[in-house]
Amino acid sequence: MDEPVKGPALPQSAAIIGAGTMGLGVAETFALAGLDVALVDATPVLTGRALERLDERVRGHIDAGLLPAEALERLLSVRAADDIADAVQSADLVLEAAPESIEIKREVLAECDARAPAAAIIATNTSSLPIDELAAFVQRKERFLGMHWFNPPEWTPAVEIIRSEFTDPLIVEIAREFLLRIGKRPATVASAPGFVANRIQFALFREALACVEEGLATPADVDELVRSSFGFRLPFYGPFQIADMAGLDVYASIFDVLSAGLGPGWEAPELLRDIVAAGRLGTKSLAGFYDYSDDERAALLLERDKRYAALMRLLEAFPDQSKPRSEA
Ligand SMILES: NC(=O)c1ccc[n+]([C@@H]2O[C@H](COP(=O)([O-])OP(=O)(O)OC[C@H]3O[C@@H](n4cnc5c(N)ncnc54)[C@H](O)[C@@H]3O)[C@@H](O)[C@H]2O)c1
Repeated sequence: MDEPVKGPALPQSAAIIGAGTMGLGVAETFALAGLDVALVDATPVLTGRALERLDERVRGHIDAGLLPAEALERLLSVRAADDIADAVQSADLVLEAAPESIEIKREVLAECDARAPAAAIIATNTSSLPIDELAAFVQRKERFLGMHWFNPPEWTPAVEIIRSEFTDPLIVEIAREFLLRIGKRPATVASAPGFVANRIQFALFREALACVEEGLATPADVDELVRSSFGFRLPFYGPFQIADMAGLDVYASIFDVLSAGLGPGWEAPELLRDIVAAGRLGTKSLAGFYDYSDDERAALLLERDKRYAALMRLLEAFPDQSKPRSEA
């Protein structure tokens, strides 16, 4: 890391266990941020191959103009470890990115816990396994949490920090500060099935599949609609900001139509009913999930239009390359 840090010390070195899709991308991110990284896969041969792939990938990114040439030197801070004990021996942060199997996680996390320095934070990249359950595999439950990266980890900004019921709030704060410091955009959530990001992502996918199954649209038409309608807004705004701008009373009415037509599960949630009943209808009433002054509302809507115009220009620079050849 480049500058001295105030407050609790942030990790300067990391061990990554599992050098697949995610582990390798996180290793690249950590190395480019200036951390010392020890990487280990299931066998020394696999670890060696992973390091070669990492080198090739970074060269590819440099050739494509996505990284500066110096990025290659930064990779010198990544070493292949012989085994988990070797990888974690002096790590401040251990990230487990082994396959999504509870048996493998049990074995790997227990070994990390037994071998890493007592002060090390242990994090798991699991996409779905309950963090409270995985915490049973380590003694240092207060220094254990979920750190859920998104593919491709070297480019996707968000990292979901998942606290278990045992995680020390200071450790959550250190993880958050650390991720901010290396250029990521962390969000902290509690442990629940699918956490938050995948729960929302899979609700979208479930309905996309249902629309195709019911013969309403083809996969290609669903893809076009999602990316070019509400998906167009998502790089800039989350669902609560979007709903505030649309009008919360309008959203409540739409839920009424959906529940009348699609049945139980589609009623407007109480949180929405209550906020509408309180007269908080979004930007039009200067209050919704967020509060706005007159000036803030005007600035927000103008900024929104500027962002959408800029996004249109960006999209025009990247015409579709990957139209599906056939549909399932
Ligand atoms: N792929 C994604 O989009 C994605 C996104 C977020 C989180 N995750 C999660 O990240 C974790 C890793 O996923 P992935 O997609 O990188 O999987 P992957 O299969 O690409 O990589 C897993 C790696 O772990 C190695 N491995 C197996 N057993 C091991 C052991 N005992 N010790 C060390 N390494 C071992 C494998 O050889 C492999 O290289 C999973 O928990 C997954 O749910 C995946």
